[in-house]
Order: sequence, then structure tokens, then C-alpha cells
Amino acid sequence: MSHRIAAKITGVAGYLPPKVLTNADLEKMVDTNDEWIRSRTGIRERHVVEKGTASSHLATEAAKCLLKKTGTDAAEIDLIVVASVTPDMMFPAMACLVQERIGAKKAWGFDLSAACSGFAYALTVGAQFVGAGTHKKVLVIGSDAMSTILDYKDRATCVLFGDGAGAVLLEASGEETGILDFAHDVDGSGGQFLYMPGGGSLHPPTHETVDKNMHVVHQEGSQVFKYAVRRMAEVAAHLLERNGFTSEDLKLVVPHQANLRIIRAMQERLGVADEKVMVNIDKYGNTTAGTIPLGLRDAVEQGRLRKGDLVLLMAVGAGYTTGGVLLRWAY
Ligand code: UT7
Repeated sequence: MSHRIAAKITGVAGYLPPKVLTNADLEKMVDTNDEWIRSRTGIRERHVVEKGTASSHLATEAAKCLLKKTGTDAAEIDLIVVASVTPDMMFPAMACLVQERIGAKKAWGFDLSAACSGFAYALTVGAQFVGAGTHKKVLVIGSDAMSTILDYKDRATCVLFGDGAGAVLLEASGEETGILDFAHDVDGSGGQFLYMPGGGSLHPPTHETVDKNMHVVHQEGSQVFKYAVRRMAEVAAHLLERNGFTSEDLKLVVPHQANLRIIRAMQERLGVADEKVMVNIDKYGNTTAGTIPLGLRDAVEQGRLRKGDLVLLMAVGAGYTTGGVLLRWAY
């Protein structure tokens, strides 16, 4: 059964904080080297926030850029959904901070936590409100400042992530273009392989949680790697099949950017050539909820998307969460 929803993306924008952390910079901070990072992950550099800049600031910049690009008045926005695992604080939600800063006077909003699948989930949630006809303009943002929760002494995680945000505008669509279908799932048995143990209600911050290094990303990389390749390929194949497409029909795949080897292994299983796959992990690293909207932004800027193109967005993240969205590009 397909989940066709009458919503389309009518604009995309992104924001990266100006400071760049290269592999050479990391060589000076931890026992690693450019060759290992490039060959094992595909990453050359990533952007990181300066002290005092948080995810909501990245989200706000992306939102402002999107409003400008699409000629949208902030007062027209009905709903703001922000996906993130690095909110500025436990509450209030970043959607509220963004709402105030951009002046989206009539919008309501909330944050959504699904790690690297967060943007795909948020896009689907936002699209439901447009499809239902109750909301005309929905702002969907993926924003993470991963550098604020990394242990820069742990070479197995600190080289992988970067900071950044992307945003899309969702509006009503006719029959021809827009979101065709989505497939999301959760496998909670994977929660133990990628998580941040401290700071929540289970382990509220104390001197002890700090001493035990509980406020940073903990990951068993090879477990996540294997699951990501298998599940992204399976869900992508399922989405295509149930909508009567094959991988031949795809014009572009915009995968979550966690590791170039994951992306290549997934596309090989799907039978998709390199030129049909968006890759920008070399410049940004893994920006968690930011990767897919930043991928869409770069694809548009590089002239790789035309109206009517069949596009697949595909992610796996902590949880485990899996998110796939199939759409026909609308502009
Ligand atoms: O968005 C979802 C979140 N995360 C992911 O999707 C990440 C999924 N996992 C991965 O991308 C990969 O598993 C990693 C990039 C994290 C690790 O790559 P790997 O090929 O699985 O390497 P490994 O963990 O098996 O480590 C191989 C070796 C080890 O040394 P020994 O034990 O063979 O001597 C590591 O200690 O590489 C070493 N190593 C490093 N060496 C230099 C691990 N990290 C580094 C590093 N620099 N940064």
C-alpha cells in the first residue's frame, strides 16, 4: 500500500557554521590521520560551531535563507517541525526558538528526535498536515551541532561528525509532483549501539556523569555500519517496488551521509550508478538530521534536480530508526 500525500517541497536551503575542521586539524587533536579518515569514511573536512552557537542558531539561519529564496513571508508559516538530537536545551523546543527569531507569528511547532532519520520523519510528519488540507505552508528543518556532544579524544567517533542545518518548505501539490510514499521503521534492539547516556532523566547531569564521560556520543561503529547498509538497501527496494518502480527510474538518491562506504555498499545492492547518488560527506561529514536537506540543497545548486525527477531520500540512524521517502521533484 502506498502512502501518497498531497504535499510537495517548494524550496530548500541550508546553513553551515563558518568554522572548518579539517582532517589535518584532527591529526593534531587525536591519534588519527587524513589517509585513514578519507579511505574509511570519505570525509575531508566538516564545519563546527563556535562556543555560544547552538543547533537552533543553525536552524534559524537555514530557515531565514529558505524564506528569502522562496519569497515567503514568515507570517505565512503554519507549522515548524525541527528534527535534531542536539537541541539547545531539554526544553523549550527549538521550534519555539526558531518561531520567535524568524517572526512566524501564527505557526505552532515541535521538535522530533529520530537521530539521522530525523529529517525523513519530520518531512513525513509535516507533509501529513499539508496533505490533510489543514496547513498551507510547513517549515521542516533538520539541524544538529554534533561537535557539542563529541569526545575529541575518541578517534572512533570525533572524526565522523560535523555541524549543519537544512530546511525545506512544504506546500500542497496536485497529482504530478510531490511526496509519493514513505517507509519508516524502528528496531529498538539497536539502541545500545549508538547513544548518549547522560543528561536525560535516567542519568541527570552530575559530576559523576561528567567524570564517566556520559555526555558524548557512544557508538559501536561496525554494528551500525552493517545495519545501515542492509536496512537502507532493503527499505529503498521495498519503496520502489510497491510504487511500481525499479532503480532504473530513479534520477537521484539523496542518502544520509554517515560514511561513503555505507553509501556505496547500499547503492551497489540497489543497482544505482554513482552519478545518481548525492554525496557531499567529504565537505560536511555526518551532520545527523542535517545531511538530507543539505544534500537536496547542494543537488539543486548543482542543477541535478529537474521537475518530475524521481528522488529517493534514505536514512538509518540511532534507535535504530530507518526512514525512506520517495518523491517527484516539484520545481
Ligand atoms: O549516522 C549513523 C551513525 N553512524 C554511522 O553510520 C557510522 C557507522 N560506522 C562506520 O562508519 C565505521 O564503522 C567507522 C568509520 C566508525 C569505523 O570504520 P571501520 O572500518 O568499521 O573501522 P573499525 O572500527 O573496525 O576500526 C579499524 C581500525 C581499528 O584499529 P585496530 O583495532 O585494527 O588496530 C581502530 O582502532 O581503525 C582504528 N581506528 C582509527 N584509526 C585512525 C578507528 N578510528 C580511527 C581513526 N583514525 N579516526
